[in-house]
Amino acid sequence: MKGIVLAGGNGTRLHPVTQVVSKQLLPVYDKPMVYYPLSVLMLAGIRDILLISTPEDLPLFRRLFGDGSSLGLRIEYATQTEPNGLAEAFLIGADFIGDDSVALVLGDNIFYGQGFSKLLQHSTAELEGCTLFGYSVRNPQRYGVGETDGAGKLVSLEEKPVAPRSNKAITGLYLYDNEVVDIARTLRPSSRGELEITDVNTTYLERGRAHLIELNRGYAWLDTGTHESLLEAGQFVQVLEHRQGVRIACLEEIALRMGYITPEECHELGWRLSKSGYGQYVMEIAEAIAGRELDAGGE
Ligand code: G1P
Repeated sequence: MKGIVLAGGNGTRLHPVTQVVSKQLLPVYDKPMVYYPLSVLMLAGIRDILLISTPEDLPLFRRLFGDGSSLGLRIEYATQTEPNGLAEAFLIGADFIGDDSVALVLGDNIFYGQGFSKLLQHSTAELEGCTLFGYSVRNPQRYGVGETDGAGKLVSLEEKPVAPRSNKAITGLYLYDNEVVDIARTLRPSSRGELEITDVNTTYLERGRAHLIELNRGYAWLDTGTHESLLEAGQFVQVLEHRQGVRIACLEEIALRMGYITPEECHELGWRLSKSGYGQYVMEIAEAIAGRELDAGGE
């Protein structure tokens, strides 16, 4: 399965913060926002990743991640020149996707929860058609909304409905089989002039091939769309990390634990950032895991 991180848009709801900086590069406590969705793809076991952003911002992402090889990934880049909608990602990324399946994650979506990586790996392995992830929210009008029947089966989808039929938001993580490329090619722009991801999902639903996985209250799906919610997301990460002494969405740690890089390589990555607590954490993790490997080797 391939992965796409979509980090486009003008971030107008966060102006003036995002006037000259991409929203997805803003800090969420100790790391740039885009680390969080990228970590989701990595935890799903996806290593071929296309990052799509605006022509102005793309060079910054390239500076941040390069070709991805230091994290054991293959990262490619592509531009979305106009904000033509999320579903344009499949047209821009058609060659990259080839005849593979694909996971799309929006560059401003933050997920956190026990067992998330297992759930992701299971969902990608079992993929049939399209898999969406639902999350109950207080303000569903802001999102794509999914309605389910008594058995939990998805029965309707609507984009930012004025009168939502449920409080289940469709989160910005989508898994698709290869048909998504052909479906995206048939889309017409919506009333707001965009190729809507909800129209892609509705096509799968009409074909009986859309599935919804509900992320229950044990999960956090954080909003970063307003000044308040962005600050709250940072505070959430800070509280958890401070309390537990772990870091969420630490890409170097994930690369190490997934076996994409060695403890030595991980340590080197941490050392380059060692003036920050983040860098020190990366080095500590590398040392701890190297120590464990040494112990195991000596037994
Ligand atoms: C987009 C999608 C919406 C989805 C949301 C998740 O909305 O159109 O269906 O629920 O992402 O973050 P946006 O936030 O780009 O307006």
